[in-house]
Amino acid sequence: MVDLEALISKMSLEEKVLQLLQTTGELYNPDESGKLMGNMFGIEIDDYMAWNAGSVLGLEGAEAAIRLQNEHMEKSAHKIPLMFMHDVIHGYRTIFPAPLALACSWQPELAEKASLIAAKEASAAGTHVTFAPMADLSRDARWGRVIESFGEDVMLNSLFSEASVRGFQGDDPKEKDQLAACVKHFAGYGMAEGGRDYNTTEISENALREYHLPTYKAALNAGSKMVMTAFNALNGVPCTGNKWLFGDILRGEWEFDGVVISDCTAIGELVLHGFADDNDEAALKALKAGVDIEMVSTTYYRGVKSLIEQGLLSEDEIDTAVMRVLQFKETLGLFDNPHKGADPKLEEQLLLCREHRDAARNIATECMVLLKNESVLPLRKSDKKIAIVGNYADNKDILDIWRCTGKPEDCISVAEGLQGKLEFNAINGCSDEALELVRASDVIILAIGETPEMSAEAGSRASIELPEEEKRFTESVLQLGKQVIAVVFAGRPMDLGMLNEKANAILYVWFPGTEGGNAIADILLGEKEPSGRLTISFPVSTGQCPIYYNALPTGRPTESLEESTRFRTGYVDAPTFPRYPFGYGLTYTDFTYSAAELSKDTLCKGESITASITLANTGKRPGTEVVQLYIRDMAGSVSRPIRELKDFTRVKLNVGEKRAISFEITEEMLRFYTLSGEYKSEPGRFKVFIGENAHCENSAEFRLFI
Ligand code: NOJ
Repeated sequence: MVDLEALISKMSLEEKVLQLLQTTGELYNPDESGKLMGNMFGIEIDDYMAWNAGSVLGLEGAEAAIRLQNEHMEKSAHKIPLMFMHDVIHGYRTIFPAPLALACSWQPELAEKASLIAAKEASAAGTHVTFAPMADLSRDARWGRVIESFGEDVMLNSLFSEASVRGFQGDDPKEKDQLAACVKHFAGYGMAEGGRDYNTTEISENALREYHLPTYKAALNAGSKMVMTAFNALNGVPCTGNKWLFGDILRGEWEFDGVVISDCTAIGELVLHGFADDNDEAALKALKAGVDIEMVSTTYYRGVKSLIEQGLLSEDEIDTAVMRVLQFKETLGLFDNPHKGADPKLEEQLLLCREHRDAARNIATECMVLLKNESVLPLRKSDKKIAIVGNYADNKDILDIWRCTGKPEDCISVAEGLQGKLEFNAINGCSDEALELVRASDVIILAIGETPEMSAEAGSRASIELPEEEKRFTESVLQLGKQVIAVVFAGRPMDLGMLNEKANAILYVWFPGTEGGNAIADILLGEKEPSGRLTISFPVSTGQCPIYYNALPTGRPTESLEESTRFRTGYVDAPTFPRYPFGYGLTYTDFTYSAAELSKDTLCKGESITASITLANTGKRPGTEVVQLYIRDMAGSVSRPIRELKDFTRVKLNVGEKRAISFEITEEMLRFYTLSGEYKSEPGRFKVFIGENAHCENSAEFRLFI
């Protein structure tokens, strides 16, 4: 064990502040004279800074990591190992479905498995820390980063955040094949006004505590070692300098004593937020809030000395931040083994290995959501002529922008996935030639969607419709009256326009990862049953954004699912309800629910009620149903959401099989932040819904006495 206090006491102020600086991997490419290039995001970094910095963002590959660490250990003043951090979001080289897709599996254990494999690959390639999971609850389909989130529900979001941390970190992030996790973006980043990335957020404290904070807390409870700040201002105070968030809540109430890292250049941006007059004030505010590492910008490095000289900051405050960084390095075992898991041979063996590809394929089949099926799927072998057209017909660029080191050439396109399993002709694109092929065919697999650049960070859209070219092509295809099976690639819920009415089937595959085409073929051919369910509502049109299932009621509710009536909440030109609700997804079979029953109609503290139904597979194929339990608190000191997901279970039934399904309801499940800000339940009437999605009407009532 290194005596960290003794180490800090030997460091100069400048050396200490450099531990708080995170540089980028590209910086370490020397020029012809061997001097470092020294320009990071337009900021000049000299050799001394580069060799004494505390951590590096985005360095890739075991050889590069070993070389850089060795050189660093030679050249740095105190031989403190560097930490290598990277955005290993849903895979390192073998890419799994994007987080929103993973959530649609309703199986947190799959996110755990994907994260575990990502950790193995990334560790062998020299990474120590990943910037994941992103626990930001998101409700607005315009926001590009919905693809990186787990959706609109606090419970699912928490389960998936926790599971990801477990996968990345395993029992101990010190292990050679595990990473440290960093939950982000603290806090409320998903609520960007208008869905515009980086935009401001207004979230009441009750709403923040009820829907947003639990998702980050879940990741911390699972052991996440680091927390990243968010770009947004929260109720007027930018998160990156928000003392209440980081001081009072994170480090105070939650007693988090690990490292906080700023988001990329977010400290300098406090000036642009109008929250600091200059970079020095920005550095001061971030440090006082408890932000330890500055990602990529250099306000700490440039400002700390003068802030201390002016008496605005003490060296002890810097020591506290440095101690946390050094302890983090110790937690990762870097003082004993600065290379941790970096191993070029293992890297070569592991990346994209068969086992990882198979896992990516299996997981991807669990994440796709069947939105529509007029009995055309699964595809039957017949003498009908099949065409695959559209921009994703034979396109390997099916990874979203958080593809880490994943490459299009690693991926399986739709046509490749179906090759050898079905007779077809494929033309990639939306050309006249593709339309000709449609004319000459009977069954059309229309593989379309958004490009990867249209979602994720800085990928917000003002319209969630199909891109113009695809919209026109889709309309032309639909006019020909063929049987159309749409396979939609997307980073958000989209308004699919005419496809909703006129396509015969719609399979929503999100960004499905490296093995996408194979997984799509598995589902289309019925070798795997579709079982994904939406964890984010699909708006009818962009104008409905944001729309989410657990909204508060109004005094003028809309009665009909289809249309709005005047003087009821909603629009005169669109329905109030989403196109496809939260929890929605079809299978290749049919399920029937018996009426919801409760074991009793009163609940007192310490007791529980059993809510049950019998589920039957009344269709012609085996299938998996996700049985969902929602509760509505009918009256409270503050209005309560019209539905809240409280439990769910995935049930696989063979043809003709029936099963009794039950859920326990306890008083704890009914707690919320009341008018007085206390977290407790209130007595009264509750409605329980058990069914297939957030619009199910199968209900029963009980009263709570406390
Ligand atoms: C900015 C993004 O907001 C964050 O999620 C990411 O981890 C960093 N850039 C580093 O790439």
